[in-house]
Amino acid sequence: MLPARRLAAGKLGRWAMRSLSTAAKQAPIAMPSLGQTPKTAEGARELYDKWAQSYDETLRSWDYPAPAQAAQLLNLHLVPGGTSGPVLDAGCGTGLSGEALHAQGFTRLVGIDVSEASLKLCKTKGIYEQLEICDLDCSAGPLQFEDNSFSGVVSVGVFSYVHNFERLFKELCRITAPGGVVVFTHRHPLWGEDVDGVRSAAAALEANTEAPRWVQLLVSEPQDYMPCNPDPAESSKKINYIVHRVL
Ligand SMILES: C[S@@+](CC[C@H](N)C(=O)[O-])C[C@H]1O[C@@H](n2cnc3c(N)ncnc32)[C@H](O)[C@@H]1O
Repeated sequence: MLPARRLAAGKLGRWAMRSLSTAAKQAPIAMPSLGQTPKTAEGARELYDKWAQSYDETLRSWDYPAPAQAAQLLNLHLVPGGTSGPVLDAGCGTGLSGEALHAQGFTRLVGIDVSEASLKLCKTKGIYEQLEICDLDCSAGPLQFEDNSFSGVVSVGVFSYVHNFERLFKELCRITAPGGVVVFTHRHPLWGEDVDGVRSAAAALEANTEAPRWVQLLVSEPQDYMPCNPDPAESSKKINYIVHRVL
């Protein structure tokens, strides 16, 4: 039997295939600047401001499965009735992750992002009750939310631009109500190799005896990220899905 916090690759694979089979198929669109962008909040702001208008079409052409899979994981791990509080979409971009959350029944959504153009586009979809500019590296101090504001937090495709995980994870624990669930994706080698102390920062919160505190529920096997990106350097990238419950 597999350890509780790891999901069998086969099980996750079938889950991935279900999600891919419903994605719209179109010719993969090239996006050469993706791999050249500095992995910082400033780099992200510049890239995603320029990309906002065509981001959804591009990602759909790459069969991007992560938003749907992260939303399914939140649904799987939240206790029944846990969907009533708001869910924070941290790094919501143009709202693909919000659309996936909505499809899973999460209708109270708050989105934050560094890209103003992405947030503007997101607003036109009408699925978030609140959208705000925010740097997840907490460069301006603590996140702008009260303690225990959310039932869940989802962050999809964002953490390769973030570096201060010690501060961010404490903040995510603070703003998530006890029993709430935090789901994020991270690039496979960055998580596995503990780059920027991401894994250590997550583990430190498990070792705490009082808040901020969480317990790890799942680290998935590496999964496809953007499998139909026409650039082989990008299509070969893998991500882990990581889930914690706030205590
Ligand atoms: C690959 S997109 C993912 C967007 C959305 N979650 C999705 O799955 O389609 C990455 C998003 O992270 C945002 N981002 C990157 N660094 C950030 C930071 N430090 N703080 C907040 N948002 C950030 C970008 O602006 C962009 O919208």
